[in-house]
Amino acid sequence: MSQHLLLLLVILAISPIPGDSQDSALSPTPEEPEDLDCGRPEPSARIVGGSDAQPGSWPWQVSLQQSGGHICGGSLVAPSWVLSAAHCFVKNGTLEPATEWSVLLGVRSQDGLLDGAHVRAVAAILVPDNYSSVELGADLALLRLASPAQLGPAVRPVCLPRASHRFAHGAACWATGWGDIQEAEHLPLPWVLQEVELRLLGEDACQCLYSRPGPFNLTFQLLPGMLCAGYPGGRRDTCQGDSGGPLVCEEGGRWFQAGITSFGFGCGRRNRPGVFTAVAPYEAWIREQVIGSEPGPAFPTQSWEPQSGPWEPRDENCTIALPECGKAPRPETWPWEAQVMVPGSRPCHGALVSESWVLAPASCFLDPINSDGPPRDRDNWRVLLPSRPRAELVARLVLHENASWDDASDLALLQLRAPVNLSTAPRPVCLPHPEHYFLPRSRCRLALWGRGEPAPGPNSRLEAELLSGWWCHCLYGRQGASVPPPGDAPHALCPAYQEEEEAGRCWNYSHRSLLCQEEGTWFLAGISDLSSGCLRPRVFHPLQTHGPWISHVTGGAYLEDQLNWDWGPEGEETETRTCPPHTEHGACGLRPEPAVMGVLWPWLAEVHVAGDRVCTGILVAPGWVLAATHCVLRPGSTTVPYVEVYLGRAGDSPLPQGHQVTSAPPLLCLTKRRSWVLTGMALPGSRELFAAIGPEEAWISQTVGEAHFLPPSGYPHWPPEGSDLCPPDMASAPGSPQAAVFLLLLTPLMQG
Ligand code: ARG
Repeated sequence: MSQHLLLLLVILAISPIPGDSQDSALSPTPEEPEDLDCGRPEPSARIVGGSDAQPGSWPWQVSLQQSGGHICGGSLVAPSWVLSAAHCFVKNGTLEPATEWSVLLGVRSQDGLLDGAHVRAVAAILVPDNYSSVELGADLALLRLASPAQLGPAVRPVCLPRASHRFAHGAACWATGWGDIQEAEHLPLPWVLQEVELRLLGEDACQCLYSRPGPFNLTFQLLPGMLCAGYPGGRRDTCQGDSGGPLVCEEGGRWFQAGITSFGFGCGRRNRPGVFTAVAPYEAWIREQVIGSEPGPAFPTQSWEPQSGPWEPRDENCTIALPECGKAPRPETWPWEAQVMVPGSRPCHGALVSESWVLAPASCFLDPINSDGPPRDRDNWRVLLPSRPRAELVARLVLHENASWDDASDLALLQLRAPVNLSTAPRPVCLPHPEHYFLPRSRCRLALWGRGEPAPGPNSRLEAELLSGWWCHCLYGRQGASVPPPGDAPHALCPAYQEEEEAGRCWNYSHRSLLCQEEGTWFLAGISDLSSGCLRPRVFHPLQTHGPWISHVTGGAYLEDQLNWDWGPEGEETETRTCPPHTEHGACGLRPEPAVMGVLWPWLAEVHVAGDRVCTGILVAPGWVLAATHCVLRPGSTTVPYVEVYLGRAGDSPLPQGHQVTSAPPLLCLTKRRSWVLTGMALPGSRELFAAIGPEEAWISQTVGEAHFLPPSGYPHWPPEGSDLCPPDMASAPGSPQAAVFLLLLTPLMQG
């Protein structure tokens, strides 16, 4: 396949192109190639983090279009030649036909053509033979126009550097384009050309940044012929749609094209500067392609002696930028915590996400009576931030478009009238990119969110630990649903936390935010889903999916790459996982991965009999617990004593003094699909002999109605014989002792 490609490229590069003679007949008076004036915009005068370019300031910038839509940038290097990136034209190893492309010249904004703007058809696309993919370099292309461009104030060529040309490290250069202004955010109408100042990074500095490991293999080897420009801290960069466009540096009153926008990891991310094709090393290749074309591109001599220049790469240090968000100056300080004070209602808790923006639930500001709009007295709103002498004024409120009907989008952004200086406090919290994967067992906190009431107890930020994504997804998801693998935004996050001792009280209607820590940096990972009520674990809506909206509105929120990605064999599992059988109430038999906090065996119940005996019961449906008869009834007695059942705390709270523990352990077996099945109940006085539950199926299902039994066909999932789990026929083995079990109908004692 790739050999075919190479052949094709060679043919394109050497074959005479039809219409050649016609082109030269149309071209203006021939000049010596070196006489072509280049790199001088008319005197007068995104890209991520850029700004609108002035008309005519980058007269060599062109837009390369396919069926009338902008695809890539390019630069005019001679009346009939445009320089761009190979990857714009090579799809699946095949060069696209030149006839599909057109070149728009002399435009600043793409919605209306200004003076001097015109279109040219493309006669040929030339790509180096050794181009295969962007990471392997040689990402450049030359386009020969079907007829020469009309040079004028809005259309002029840029100068090209000779092979010996050296650009100073640290030089301030400019990239231009109509590409995305953030990851996944297109340049809005009227598509005004964006410009951004980028610093040239030396090879070592750039390699050092890209050698730092990260999630999803974002390291790569910088190759000769590539150059980097940007900042270790990110935030200013080129992005999708800028490819092929120029990176230009001014020297001696002329603009030289140092690079061609090629690729990057994300856009504007910390320690991931943009990678460009260096133009100078391709002097010979460019000259070869344009032979015979007059005037050809201009390669003016460099105005200063490169040998003595400040470009020597020797002791360039490796400057790695640290995250600016999510750092607490001391443990238990939360410098992003914001309280929005709206006259007449309780304070609303939110989080500072940038210098000027606070994220909070939209429900704080939606007027339940007049749902058409938020309250209007915004002048009287105040925002309290840590370590600020005075409250901040609010300039703007932006509600999420789905805020009023979708719980997961109950979000609003408030803009402060004046940005705060970021110091140790206030300081914004980090936000996750859509592909962020919070590892199971991450250390998290549940903080106040919205009009939440402080939790009982001394600590209003409950400690929590993230449970496995698989478990959370299946518990709240659908039977047979496939579980999003790391790298896909999750549907739900489940933190396990220790409930405050005031048992029975669940902060039912109180909102919480989920903050998770990675390498000492805090991320706002999710917001609580109120619909899960008092069910444990509570489910949180992940914030991942909202990253693009938040960056769109704020233009500068701190989305940070994942800092901890050692997900071990679990995350590398390629096989798609599906969820086990569900009852009407969710998955049964699902057990979280071992967690320090929370319940290891979520169906275990403490059955307290007559106030002094404790044995183990099993939750088989939301209202029913199964317990061994000998645990509930005293020998010889037939009256049922007073029984209390405690759920969701098995094993994690000490039993009251003086209680006699009657052991009646259940036997649970793990199916292949990783759900647990109750197989037996211990016989009286024994820890090793169990009575099978199988024969009781009819009685249990008649009584309970909603208990979930694995169909007999579910049993092929039993582990193979000889494994140390249950034998395949245990559950219904004939002649096994009969189980004596009790079903306890639950009635709530304490309400939340
Ligand atoms: N490959 C992109 C394009 O086709 C350019 C990406 C540049 N990315 C960056 N982070 N600098 O438009």
